Amino acid sequence: MLRDTVKVSRRWNCRMEGAHIIEVQGLGDAVQPSGTDLGAPGKVAKSGSSESDQSQWFGTQAPQKAGIDFDPYFTEHDDIEAQRHDETSFTERRRVDLHWKDLRFDVGIKRKLGGKVDDSNRKTILRGISGEVRAGTMLAIMGSSGAGKTTLLNLLAGRLTSSKDYEVSGEILVNGAKRNPSTFKRQSAYVEQEDKIFAEVTVYEQLKFAADLRLPKKMPSDVKEQRVLSTIQELGLMKVKDSYVGGEQVRGVSGGEKKRVNVGTELVTDPSLLFLDEPTSGLDSFNALNVMYTLRKLASNGRTIVTTIHQPRSNIFSMFDYFCLLAEGQAEGKSRARIEYFAEEFEETKKTIDADFSKVESTVSSDTAKSKFASSWTYEFGKVLKRQWQLTTRERVANTARIGQTVFFAILLGLIWLNNGRVDWSDPDVASSQAFNIGGVIFFTVVNQAFSGIFNVLFVYPLERNVVLKERASGTYRVSTYTFARMVADLPRSLFQDIFFVSVLYWMVGLRADVGAFFLMCYIVLMVAMITEGFTFALMTVFPDPQAAAALAPVYVILSMLFGGFLIDVESIPAAVAWIRWVSFVNYAFGAAMQNQFGCGPECGEQILSSPFQVEISLTAGCLALLGFNVFFRVLWYVILRVNGPKLAKAL
Ligand SMILES: Nc1ncnc2c1ncn2[C@@H]1O[C@H](COP(=O)(O)OP(=O)(O)O)[C@@H](O)[C@H]1O
Ligand SMILES: [Mg+2]
Repeated sequence: MLRDTVKVSRRWNCRMEGAHIIEVQGLGDAVQPSGTDLGAPGKVAKSGSSESDQSQWFGTQAPQKAGIDFDPYFTEHDDIEAQRHDETSFTERRRVDLHWKDLRFDVGIKRKLGGKVDDSNRKTILRGISGEVRAGTMLAIMGSSGAGKTTLLNLLAGRLTSSKDYEVSGEILVNGAKRNPSTFKRQSAYVEQEDKIFAEVTVYEQLKFAADLRLPKKMPSDVKEQRVLSTIQELGLMKVKDSYVGGEQVRGVSGGEKKRVNVGTELVTDPSLLFLDEPTSGLDSFNALNVMYTLRKLASNGRTIVTTIHQPRSNIFSMFDYFCLLAEGQAEGKSRARIEYFAEEFEETKKTIDADFSKVESTVSSDTAKSKFASSWTYEFGKVLKRQWQLTTRERVANTARIGQTVFFAILLGLIWLNNGRVDWSDPDVASSQAFNIGGVIFFTVVNQAFSGIFNVLFVYPLERNVVLKERASGTYRVSTYTFARMVADLPRSLFQDIFFVSVLYWMVGLRADVGAFFLMCYIVLMVAMITEGFTFALMTVFPDPQAAAALAPVYVILSMLFGGFLIDVESIPAAVAWIRWVSFVNYAFGAAMQNQFGCGPECGEQILSSPFQVEISLTAGCLALLGFNVFFRVLWYVILRVNGPKLAKAL
């Protein structure tokens, strides 16, 4: 069956290939566009089922049930519930028809200085693509991998990343008018191929978070709550509402449910248009069918759905209203007549639709000047902080490992350096013989903290980064609220860990018995871990691969260690590289901690600070520098994350 289709569409084309073009038996003249049928409400297309059948369940007004006998999750009751909710909360949804004409997409264009264009690597990905999809129907973009499905989807969704190396042309119309990017963004939603969701968040929390932040702040919270529940209903997720989404390590919902959660995250804003990139890839046939069934239902509720799909099974295939087949091949040739035919058709639709919708479009676009984000900074901060805190407390394995590591090192270091600090520091001989021992424990503590800071981030951040970049792309929250909330949510755990560590060490080694000195030591230890955390965050935003980050992050820490003031003294370092000590956070941390321990007069062993060590900084300078490093890396992270965010081209 598909072979026929591919043959007839052996152009970069995509034109309202109503399923009636594709006959299941593969008989007859496959190319037989009957213009009047195209997109007409209620009789959009058929896919091998009888005429009377399709008008029931492919119709825009028709309820979902009839004609679909596959219904594994959605009970009769669920459907009625979903509809009831629909009537109360989704009555205002706008119907959106999408038309596109003659889309072309070329990549590999190099622009030289002076405006010259180097065309030698030009590659055409899409060519001469026209088509439409109407409210209440579902379009499938099919084709082999690399055929340009995602590219076309992105183009239609207005999601092309802005870059200079491609060229795009053609026309995309929303309800007959040229689209306004920001209005369009609010009307539409895009579900990425990969499900980027935190594992330790429940289905309800995931949708509630999206609803809280993405729905207008004027909307009362019980309405938001309603919206979340009705979306969960609509997607048939009621049974797993309070289960974790799950991931590689955490057991959670099934693959198909996870995909529907991903769809739901985008659906809480109640978009009229839904774009999905390969929603069934990676799912078994049961789950795939389930997801498609959900989409079918969403379409029946008046939404416009565009999805790419790879190798659909026949039962999935039969759910679509329109098809668009992409295949590599020539755009010219025997089907020229059809191209012209569709061009005419397009102009015709454009005219009629223009009259209907031009008014609506202009009123809608008048309120586009407002902020990109739905909520205020503080509200957003509260919500993001709450989720971050939940994630922190739910990282059971990581938290247990951290506590274990802290206890282990505190006791180990305590035993090795047991009572080393309890000597008569006013005796110069004792002081100079003990100086290296105490210097050693302080240095080791700093280095140990520095490395644990790296590892705190290394394995959790790759997923987190993807989620954050995705949520940012959909305008859920600002990068600043996230980076700040992440730091605040981490503080209690880090503080607890560090105070515990320093308490044990202090008491076992017998460091300077002074409350102020104790807390300053806690501060230094906390700062060091936060600095390397911030540094690793920034690094991994640029190099998301944990292996690359694991190779690169220690370079800075080891350099800082070398110039940290313990392993080699200042005078012995070659002058050419001696300056590195001023960018070594270990130098400041070690210096400050040494000042803290010994800088209290001759009876504490103050002479140690000049010999055998050469501590060049004061306690205050050291503490402030650590704060500075911290702020620097956090701001760097923020900036990189912002710059890394997708920049969408305003084209078409
Ligand atoms: N910006 C781009 N620069 C270079 N090549 C690109 C770009 N966008 C897409 N391509 C290429 O276009 C082809 C189609 O990509 P894509 O739309 O992702 O295919 P599909 O989703 O059908 O698998 C691929 O060969 C891809 O490498
Ligand atoms: Mg793709």
